[in-house]
Amino acid sequence: SNNTALFSPITINGVTLKNRIVMSPMCMYSCLEQDGKVTSFHKTHYISRAVGQVGLICLEATAVSTEGRISEEDLGIWNDEHVTGLKELVHGIHEAGSKAAIQLAHAGRKAMVKEDIIAPTAEPHKEGMKVPVAMSEEQIKKTINDFKEGARRAKEAGFDIIELHGAHGYLINEFLSPLINTRQDQYGGNMENRYRFLKEIITSVKEVWDGPLFVRISASDYHEQGNNADTYVSVAQWMKEQGVDLVDCSSGGVIQVKLQQKINVFPGYQVAFADKIRNEAHIATGAVGMITSGLQAEEIIQNNRADLVFIGRELLRDPYWPRTAAKELNATIESPQQYNRAW
Ligand code: FNR
Repeated sequence: SNNTALFSPITINGVTLKNRIVMSPMCMYSCLEQDGKVTSFHKTHYISRAVGQVGLICLEATAVSTEGRISEEDLGIWNDEHVTGLKELVHGIHEAGSKAAIQLAHAGRKAMVKEDIIAPTAEPHKEGMKVPVAMSEEQIKKTINDFKEGARRAKEAGFDIIELHGAHGYLINEFLSPLINTRQDQYGGNMENRYRFLKEIITSVKEVWDGPLFVRISASDYHEQGNNADTYVSVAQWMKEQGVDLVDCSSGGVIQVKLQQKINVFPGYQVAFADKIRNEAHIATGAVGMITSGLQAEEIIQNNRADLVFIGRELLRDPYWPRTAAKELNATIESPQQYNRAW
């Protein structure tokens, strides 16, 4: 039957996804010679999940500047020369019948590169990691423009959706968290000030991008004085007012593990964040984290706890996971039209 919520289409700001299954962004650390360019591995990796009927393929964290890379092998979008490879990849994803998203990212103080690194303050993430330069207003403006340029290139490459990486203790998250952002200027202080950096990125990106815009957040810092799901209900309302279409609800990564409360990890352990933000801020959400079965995914969508499910590691183990889920739910699922003559 086709009466499943998981395999029902959804239209978000003019883009229709054929089902609710998203390939969660996952760094593949596969770029050669620090050039940030798409490799043949990326094509095989992403396009095979599209052949496997994933509705939306979200590319890994893609750096908007060289000092914003998590590693020197990161995928990049800081240069016009990156567009050609990304365009070919998007074409392959489209040819296989899926939509394509890209996660625009800046690693902030978690960058492990040769360049000087930048962050809201000059505190390193942990001992042994590089000490970042506390960003000047000029560096803030430049970085906001890097995100805008990344969005312009993403549009040129033909992506359907852009996701901003505001989670896991990378630059945007560093501004949002009171545990890190102790700036005394207009970019630090209360939540509204700490949101200003993301707010200005959203505004700038929207000058060159009118398609669906997602933001991934860490809905909990796992620390008493940190951000939590309540804080993010307000932030999600502000994002909604700015025209963000979906909040992708992850958590953690803001402070080093030894300073965090112990995270209780279980199947669907972050779904409650997506549920709360969706139903209290009235914005579409994505649920992610240890969602591995069709029944589990179906329950999340059917109960209006999230609009999309992001599948990470299970899609590494099983590139055809949508087929596995469909079998479990007794749902019918398409195949690439090239396979039709086999029946
Ligand atoms: C990740 N994750 C991640 N998240 C993100 O926002 N951007 C990224 O580039 C990455 N990179 C990444 C690489 C690898 C190898 C893994 C395993 C994970 C997190 C990922 O998107 C997802 O949120 C988590 O893996 C939890 O979902 P699963 O794997 O339990 O379905």
